[in-house]
Amino acid sequence: MKILFVGDVVGSPGRDMVSEYLPKLKAKYRPQFTIINGENAAGGKGITEKIYRGFLEKGANVITLGNHTWDNREIFEFIDEAKYMIRPANFPDGTPGKGLIFININGVEIAVINLQGRTFLPPLDDPFRKADELINTAKAKTNIIFVDFHAEATSEKQAMGWYLDGRVSAVVGTHTHVQTADNRILPKGTAYITDVGMTGPYDGILGMDREVVLKRFLSSLPVRFEVPKTGRNQLSACLIDIDQKTGISKRIDTILINEDHPFMMD
Ligand SMILES: [Fe+2]
Repeated sequence: MKILFVGDVVGSPGRDMVSEYLPKLKAKYRPQFTIINGENAAGGKGITEKIYRGFLEKGANVITLGNHTWDNREIFEFIDEAKYMIRPANFPDGTPGKGLIFININGVEIAVINLQGRTFLPPLDDPFRKADELINTAKAKTNIIFVDFHAEATSEKQAMGWYLDGRVSAVVGTHTHVQTADNRILPKGTAYITDVGMTGPYDGILGMDREVVLKRFLSSLPVRFEVPKTGRNQLSACLIDIDQKTGISKRIDTILINEDHPFMMD
């Protein structure tokens, strides 16, 4: 079972990259299942129903979110009906939406969990204890459990990887927007990467207009971050190969497409 995960899609540049390259990635790697982190998909913050539906049409099976989940107010109008979208599970009980989803692909059940870190991010419920709880629920149905851990601190992401090693198929980090080179299979069979990286503007700063971010650093004055409308783009993703019966991962490979790392079919 191959799962393709596309890292934080930022604004229209990121969506354009998904439109252009998702079909090519599917043709090349033939994943049975595709997940997209869409928390930055609407102008860099949040997601709209149209964008969510667009991702499904482009071939995503599940959309995950993160700390920007609520930044586009439209979310409150469609999150309850968005069957294939999950937000961090460790928001307090009663929060709209859900953090665990089961999808059946040709008779194979896959669980996807979204969690958010608490280090350098707003306080939420304990993502580690929440992971325990959701894995218990998921294990009753499947061994294939995929976790998108949306977190700022590398240490917290590594801690989650080790904490869940052998209990889930994969722990992939999102949110910090720069692809890390530490993709590996942990000793008990969990695929791990600290951050999958960002899909969007290649010449910005973490996907935002670099002039605006620079102004912030140089002046310390409040600025309004914006997604640049022109320029070069990139796509960051990873591909995980999982033993269908045991849920143990065999391989995790990173995918990076930009002008310095051009896509090649072979
Ligand atoms: Fe984020």
